[in-house]
Order: sequence, then structure tokens, then C-alpha cells
Amino acid sequence: MPAITDHMSADHRRCDELFSSAENHADAGQWPEAISAWQQFDEALQAHFGMEEQVLFPAFESATGMTAGPTAVMRMEHQQMRALLAEISEAAGNQERSAFLSGCETLMIMMQQHNMKEEQILYPMADRSLPDAGTTLQLMQSA
Ligand SMILES: [Fe+2]
Ligand SMILES: [Fe+2]
Repeated sequence: MPAITDHMSADHRRCDELFSSAENHADAGQWPEAISAWQQFDEALQAHFGMEEQVLFPAFESATGMTAGPTAVMRMEHQQMRALLAEISEAAGNQERSAFLSGCETLMIMMQQHNMKEEQILYPMADRSLPDAGTTLQLMQSA
């Protein structure tokens, strides 16, 4: 059973929903709602990155011996998205609608491409190569 692919893909969807909510509220000029949704999204995405960087990627790297492969690329993309998250948070704090929305547009493209690579390549590889994917999944959920 592809436990990791299922769980982590569902978590991508959960983050996407919070992201859309923040974007829609900001677009409508509803800043309290936009900021609240944005904070929930930011927290959810950072937690997701943490599960990957602290549990999934190290487990994948030690099972496959691939340390300079897909996980290195994913870690680098997380850093790029973290920088953008900080910029967008600042725009949200200042209620700068156009800076917020254009930041969101860039982030959405980065997230879509990143998540697609994980869902189609990395997670299925992890499900296949980890000796006990179920245990890795439990560790991620408690991380
Ligand atoms: Fe990721
Ligand atoms: Fe992910």
C-alpha cells in the first residue's frame, strides 16, 4: 500500500486549500480572514517541509544511498519557498494587496511543480525503497 504517497499527497491538498482561502480573502480585501488563513497555511506548509526534511528525506537517503539526488533538489526548493513565504507574510502584515497576490502567484507555480515531482517521483520511490514505509509515516506524523 503506497502509504507515504497517499498521506503526503493529501497533506499537499490540505495546504493548497488553506492557500486558496488566503488568496481569495486577500483578493476580496478581507484582511483579517486573509491573514488568519495565511498563518494557518504558513504553519501547515512549514510543518510539511519539516516532516520531509527531518524524517522522510533522511530515511530515503539511507535506504537508497542517494544523497545528491532528488532529495537535494527538494531541499533547495523548500529554501526558495521559505524565502517567498517570508516575503508574502510581510506583504500580508502590511496589507499590501498587489505584493501579496503577486507573491502568491509565484509561490503557487513553485508549489505545483514541486508537489508534482514529489507525488509522481519521490513519494512512490520512497514507498518502494523504504523497508518499512508505515513506520516512517508514523515518525513523520509525530515529528
Ligand atoms: Fe517538499
Ligand atoms: Fe511535499
